[in-house]
Amino acid sequence: MAKKEQDVVDQELPPPPARNKPTLPEGFRQLKTQVAGHNFESINAEAIGLLQDYAGGCVLKPLGKPECGERELRFYESLATAGALGDNDLALLRGHVPRFYGPLKLVVNHRERTFLRLEDLTRDMLQPCVMDVKVGKRTWDPAASPNKRQLEEGKYVQCKQALGLCLPGFQVYLPVDADQDAEKASILRRGRDYGKSLSVEGFKETMALFFNASTSHSKARRAARELLLQEVLRQLQDILKWFVSQRVYHFYASSLLICYDYSRLKNQPTLNGHRHHGEQEAVDAPSSPSTWVRVRMIDFAHVYPAEQALPDENYMFGLKSLIEVIQALIHR
Ligand SMILES: Nc1ncnc2c1ncn2[C@@H]1O[C@H](COP(=O)(O)OP(=O)(O)OP(=O)(O)O)[C@@H](O)[C@H]1O
Ligand SMILES: [Mg+2]
Repeated sequence: MAKKEQDVVDQELPPPPARNKPTLPEGFRQLKTQVAGHNFESINAEAIGLLQDYAGGCVLKPLGKPECGERELRFYESLATAGALGDNDLALLRGHVPRFYGPLKLVVNHRERTFLRLEDLTRDMLQPCVMDVKVGKRTWDPAASPNKRQLEEGKYVQCKQALGLCLPGFQVYLPVDADQDAEKASILRRGRDYGKSLSVEGFKETMALFFNASTSHSKARRAARELLLQEVLRQLQDILKWFVSQRVYHFYASSLLICYDYSRLKNQPTLNGHRHHGEQEAVDAPSSPSTWVRVRMIDFAHVYPAEQALPDENYMFGLKSLIEVIQALIHR
C-alpha cells in the first residue's frame, strides 16, 4: 500500500498560502483535503478555511457570516437533541451528516472565532479522493435578495439546470501509468472555475475520472471499482430514502461530500465475496466498504424549515440525477 501522497501533477486549487501563513493554535493545521468553500487567503487575515485537529480525527469549520453560521450551528444542535424529543426524521438524518462534537472557540490570525467541530470524513484515508457536489437547481434561499438570486442563477448554468448539480471542487488520485496497476499515483485537484466550465457530458466524464472509471485496469481493479460505485450508490440511495419521507427541512446550496481511499482500490475481494473465474482468492479479510467510502451531506448554512411541509423536490431532483450518473458508470 502506498504510504504517502505522491507528486502533484496538476493543480488548479490554490496551494496553502506560502506568504503570511495563518497563525493557528497548537495542535491544529489547515485541512489539506479541503476542495471547495471559503479558504485562507494570504492577503486577507479575515478569510478563514477549515482546520484539522491533528489527533482528534475531526475538522473545524469556521462559522460563516453571522446569520449563515448561526443557522448551521442551530441545524447541528437540532440534530443532536433529536430522538429524545421523539423527532425520528431528524434522528435518522444524523446518520447522513458528519458527527457533531459541539462548537469551539479558537484564536486564529490573532482573533477569537467560533468553529463547529465535525467528524473528519477523510480520516484514516491514506490517499483521500474527495468531491464536493452542490445539490439543487435552485441554490438561493428564501431570504436571498434579488441580486443574490441573480448571481446564483448565473453560476454553473449548464449542469445546474440540466442535472440540478454543480461541481465546486474535487481531488482524486490516479495511477501514473493508466495501463498498469502501479503503486505510484498522482493527485489531480480542480476548483470552481473548472466546475463552472463543465457541460453535462463533461460532468459525467469528470465523475468517471473521479471514480477511476475512465481507464481500463485489471480484472481485480475493475471489481474493486465496482465495489466502490455500489457503495456510493447504496449510501446515496439511503439519503434519498430519507428525503422521500421527511417534511422538516429544505436544503439550499448544500453539498454531498463523496470521499474514498484510493489506496483501497487495490487488493479488494470481489463483490459478495465471489471470485471471478480464474482469479486468485483475496488474502486479506474483507473490510466493509463503508470504512473507506463515505458519502455525507455537508454545508447547512442555508437550511430552512420546509415550506408548507412539502418535500424538498429541489434537492431530490439533483440527488436522483447523481444516482443516475453513478448507475450509468456501473453499467458502462
Ligand atoms: N466533515 C468534513 N470532513 C472532511 N472535509 C470536510 C468536512 N466538511 C467540509 N469539508 C471540506 O471543506 C469544504 C468546504 O466545506 P463547506 O461547504 O461546509 O464550507 P463552505 O462552503 O465554506 O461553507 P459556507 O458556505 O457555510 O461558508 C468541503 O468541500 C470539503 O472539502
Ligand atoms: Mg460549501
